[in-house]
Amino acid sequence: MAVDLLLGLQWGDEGKGKIVDVLTSNYNIIARFQGGPNAGHTLEFDGIKHVLRTIPSGIFHKESINVIGNGVVIDPVVFVQELDGLDQFNLDYKSNLIISRKAHVILPTHRLLDAASETSKGKAKIGSTLKGIGPTYMDKTGRNGIRIGDLELNNWKDKYRALANKHQAMINFYNVDIQYDLKEMETEFFEAVERLKELQFIDSEEYLNQALKSGKPILAEGAQGSLLDIDFGTYPFVTSSNTTASGACTGLGVAPNKIGEVFGIFKAYTTRVGSGPFPTELFDQVGDDMARIGHEFGAVTGRPRRCGWLDLVALRYACQVNGVTQLNMMKGDVLSGFKTLKVCTAYKYKGEVIKHLPYNIEEENITPIYTEFEGWTEDLTKMTEASQLPKQLNDYIDFLEKELEIPITIVSVGPDRTQTINR
Ligand code: GDP
Ligand code: IMO
Ligand code: MG
Repeated sequence: MAVDLLLGLQWGDEGKGKIVDVLTSNYNIIARFQGGPNAGHTLEFDGIKHVLRTIPSGIFHKESINVIGNGVVIDPVVFVQELDGLDQFNLDYKSNLIISRKAHVILPTHRLLDAASETSKGKAKIGSTLKGIGPTYMDKTGRNGIRIGDLELNNWKDKYRALANKHQAMINFYNVDIQYDLKEMETEFFEAVERLKELQFIDSEEYLNQALKSGKPILAEGAQGSLLDIDFGTYPFVTSSNTTASGACTGLGVAPNKIGEVFGIFKAYTTRVGSGPFPTELFDQVGDDMARIGHEFGAVTGRPRRCGWLDLVALRYACQVNGVTQLNMMKGDVLSGFKTLKVCTAYKYKGEVIKHLPYNIEEENITPIYTEFEGWTEDLTKMTEASQLPKQLNDYIDFLEKELEIPITIVSVGPDRTQTINR
């Protein structure tokens, strides 16, 4: 039995939450392997829209077990808000939502450090979601972090105090003007930790490997996107974890030879929220139309997402790094009515035409080279069969499959669970 992976191939918000929810019925276990509440994974069904942050997107299927892996960072305060949001759905999360003891805890001072660091950077800021992700992973790799398993120990608050005091000194060092009431934040945090402790903490690597042995299929859910990967993304404008396939091995404790299918998910165009290079970004009416029709606003911060054409150079790179075996194309419906579509197939870089992602993709170095396609006018959102898709969309899909040499097995034509076409 294998672990299949589902991960984003662009700069996040590709629609991972929707597809994990759609695929969950094929799996016993859904496991998040990295990131934290910087993620916002949207699911829609039965007229309800729900955004998950840390909780895996299989949670609405009562028969699935949802595991938060060791690679994830958890903010108890956000987590409790997520649990409260689930109350209306009558889910038994005390039995079907379990947390790795090795996952790290986001402290209130991690959030403050994130804010202080970003403020001190001025114009060069990353555009972080300010959820404390970077500082928490820094403490993890710096071997100072507090893990979920520590919360079961009697003296964990001593460790907390020592770390929080150190963080306060670091915040002072930044010497920036951020307003906060740490006492209030701590009260909320300690209350949330008590709620969190009502859930099951486990040695998740053992649990997952035993599940595989007993023939239970697992789907690993990624957060963010490949171009936000700490190693392979557009550094330093990235997040602080490995969002690519290898992150699933380290973030869950499953060996590479246990990985089965790798579902790579991408939008039919490109978006990015936060700072950093984006070669195919549009600054005209077409980009504004994509943002408006696609409702391109961040699920976590509400910030407008930057929009642009599909970038096959970046997509090819992401497929390679991840070993993608199947592609899922999202939001094709948003492009209905665009007269001409463009796809970037190569970059002009230092006078040369290249098809790989160079070290530095700052806009001034790169001119995208586009292939143009005729658009379609049909509304896709009610279509349920591949045979209904318009010819121009099929031409677009055929071109992408040929260029990437990977089949597009799912075409999503709307945010709802049911608006999903298998090919
Ligand atoms: P994630 O972070 O990868 O899970 O993606 P987000 O939830 O942040 O952003 C994807 C957005 O697109 C959400 O608002 C989804 O409801 C929406 N969405 C997903 N698939 C489709 C689709 O095929 N068409 C349209 N129009 N919206 C979609
Ligand atoms: P999902 O899982 C889109 C971006 C932020 C910022 C950079 C670093 O919903 O796809 P961080 O808070 O990690 O320090 O921010 O990464 N970012 C995301 N963009 N979707 C996400 O998650 C993101 N998580 C972080 O905007 O540019
Ligand atoms: Mg999102």
